[in-house]
Amino acid sequence: MKKSQIKVPCSQVYLDDEIREKVLAVLNSGKYILNDNCRKFEEEFANFVGRRYAALANSATSAIQLSLMALGVESGDEIIVPSLTAFPTVEPIFHVGAKPVFIDINDEYLIDHELIEEKINKKTKGIIPVHLYGNSAEMDKILSLAEEYDLFVLEDASQAHGAEFRGQKVGSFGNVGCFSFYPSKNLTFCGDGGIMVTNDEKLVEKVKMLRDHGRKDKYLHELIGFNMRANEIQATFGLIQLKHLPEFTIRRREAAQLYNQLLKNLSIKLPSESDHVHHVYHLYVIQLDNRDKVVQFLKEKDICTGIHYPVPCHLQPAVVEIMGKVSLPKTEEYCRNILSLPIFPSITNEQINNVAEQLIQAIKQ
Ligand SMILES: Cc1ncc(COP(=O)(O)O)c(C=O)c1O
Repeated sequence: MKKSQIKVPCSQVYLDDEIREKVLAVLNSGKYILNDNCRKFEEEFANFVGRRYAALANSATSAIQLSLMALGVESGDEIIVPSLTAFPTVEPIFHVGAKPVFIDINDEYLIDHELIEEKINKKTKGIIPVHLYGNSAEMDKILSLAEEYDLFVLEDASQAHGAEFRGQKVGSFGNVGCFSFYPSKNLTFCGDGGIMVTNDEKLVEKVKMLRDHGRKDKYLHELIGFNMRANEIQATFGLIQLKHLPEFTIRRREAAQLYNQLLKNLSIKLPSESDHVHHVYHLYVIQLDNRDKVVQFLKEKDICTGIHYPVPCHLQPAVVEIMGKVSLPKTEEYCRNILSLPIFPSITNEQINNVAEQLIQAIKQ
């Protein structure tokens, strides 16, 4: 087969016979919601991150919303957050009646901690750093600001399972860490799923109540909650993936190194990695001119690409309608030039070579 005909998807879910067998066993068990596998996954994932407790939810969006509620965020509160993130980082802030205060990015496309302090006022309740693309936000700076101003920190680690900042796993720094298991993530379920991890027992208990109609006992509803429960099939899928996560990360990092090597002589900006961060390359994002032409060229060669994100959160129509227009120059400029190349644990060197070769051709056009 000619190299130009090698199909390269954007991502691919890991599936094996153990998953098939154990998922089938759950199907046959008749126990589907918040049972032994969910509890086991909560315990093992909390352990993996280095936190004492975890609560699964039906998505990371839900885990973030439930955590904000359990942290006591109320109408009128302000939450500091980057605009360069998936919209679901920000949606839950609106759902609890609070207001996002958007911060521009630093040179690594993460929340610029230097810009946070000037936005803190009496209404500020917390900071949501996002560990975007599998990289880590500057947690020491963010934590010291949070401590100084008595703010909570909720880490959105949806894209960064296993990433580390100064040798410690992301998601274990703040009051809460939230992760997504959406099928493109570094650890996936076979559908939607998310989790919050924490060392705060009261917080996790409140999240567990809120996700299940506000109850601990079947017929006693102490809070007005939701149905945001996780299910046993997803947890079983996740338990097996969790065993393989270290090798998934090794392969993602190898793939990123190979891209770095193959693309180093082009006039495009490649991802960077600080010495004190263990990046897990959920995404491999480059910056280049003529992005749209390149996307089209690659599409014709059966190579999938993504843009994370073409429209930052502060410019999303639903947000502008509520908050009016804010300006974040670096974020806006960056969103015009970025392109995510395919990266996933089962990507082959042949596929990576093909992507690089076609990208070089596309740029020459
Ligand atoms: C940074 C970030 N936050 C939150 C989410 C929401 O995750 P979920 O789809 O599990 O609700 C995602 C997923 O796209 C994400 O990438």
